[in-house]
Amino acid sequence: MNGDPRPVPDTFKLADWPHNCWYAAAYDVECRRALLPRRIAGHNVVLYRRGDGRPVALENACWHRLMPLSEGQLEDDDVACGYHGLVFNAEGRCVFMPSQQTINPSARVRSYPVLERHRFVWVWPGDPALADPELVPDLHWNDDPAWAGDGGLIHLDCGYKLIVDNLMDLTHETFVHGASIGQRSIAEVPFEVTHGPSSATVTRWMVDVDPPPFWKMQLEWKRGEPAGRVDRWQIIHFQAPSTVAIDVGVAPTGTGAPEGDRSEGVNGYVLNTMTPETPRSCHYFWAFARNYSLTDQRITTLIRDGVAGVFAEDETVLAAQQEAIDDHPEKEFYNLNIDGGAMWARRLIDKLMAEEDHDERYRRSAQEAERHAGAITQVEATEADAQRLGVG
Ligand code: FES
Ligand SMILES: [Fe+2]
Repeated sequence: MNGDPRPVPDTFKLADWPHNCWYAAAYDVECRRALLPRRIAGHNVVLYRRGDGRPVALENACWHRLMPLSEGQLEDDDVACGYHGLVFNAEGRCVFMPSQQTINPSARVRSYPVLERHRFVWVWPGDPALADPELVPDLHWNDDPAWAGDGGLIHLDCGYKLIVDNLMDLTHETFVHGASIGQRSIAEVPFEVTHGPSSATVTRWMVDVDPPPFWKMQLEWKRGEPAGRVDRWQIIHFQAPSTVAIDVGVAPTGTGAPEGDRSEGVNGYVLNTMTPETPRSCHYFWAFARNYSLTDQRITTLIRDGVAGVFAEDETVLAAQQEAIDDHPEKEFYNLNIDGGAMWARRLIDKLMAEEDHDERYRRSAQEAERHAGAITQVEATEADAQRLGVG
């Protein structure tokens, strides 16, 4: 990885996604006693809740003439098509046909495995026999009583992998988020990348630095005194194919945070899970959960709005990047040292793809991930970085 920039593996420009995994389809509050259409991993799905609250995910095309069921009516736990009135139950089986004595047993729409966890409704677009609830990505901070927060959903005009790249890379904070969470020392401090069979981690500690405005405010709220120098951490955890939980926070320097005692500091998790919609668009679910001032709704709203503003800065960059990728299909991407986290994340996506797809390119990329599993990559800043950023 260190050394000359090199072209990325030949899978990196492929926009597809694995199907045998859980994708967030909706925030809990979005899924109601109403029909919600949403394209999930290329599947047009209609979501709703049964009377007892359990979510349902059906194919959004009527068996009869393919009218979107989301244009119909919810009748108790069933959906009535808005065109000729066929009624389908929550399993997708037709239970009423107008003017017919018998109901054709093949009259059904696909029903997807669906479950609710960590404030999201998850849908499994692949083989239902493989839909193991244990495989739902861990975003427990989103509904754990020891944490408080909120988030939102952004529809983004870019492939989901571009957001994975973005979240696995801390360097862009300096340039894209300079006014909010960025600080110059980010670009100069080394970080470390590790990966296992289905997860990759990027770890960066900034010891004895001035806290940026966002964190200074958090620390002062918690401690009720002016904040001095801090130790700041950013630990990015990727779970294949598209979930990223970022452990972030600051603690006053000298209170032992790098050694594991974070009790004097403030800690948050930036939770992100992306669901592909089409090769060029995705649903980006995010939240920010914190472990202090849990009942203060003012802080929840302030942070939620602040984080939304930070993501708006990424949105512009990512949509512009997707457009340029579409404009230049012949161009390659290159990998720099700073892309270490994204590179392993991408290879872990490729590994899932290799399990479902016979494309040789995925297999090769996955083998590469296997071969280097457990390896630790250290990425160092250079003299030139320090000079250009006017630090050091
Ligand atoms: S298209 Fe749905 S009932 Fe005819
Ligand atoms: Fe960003």
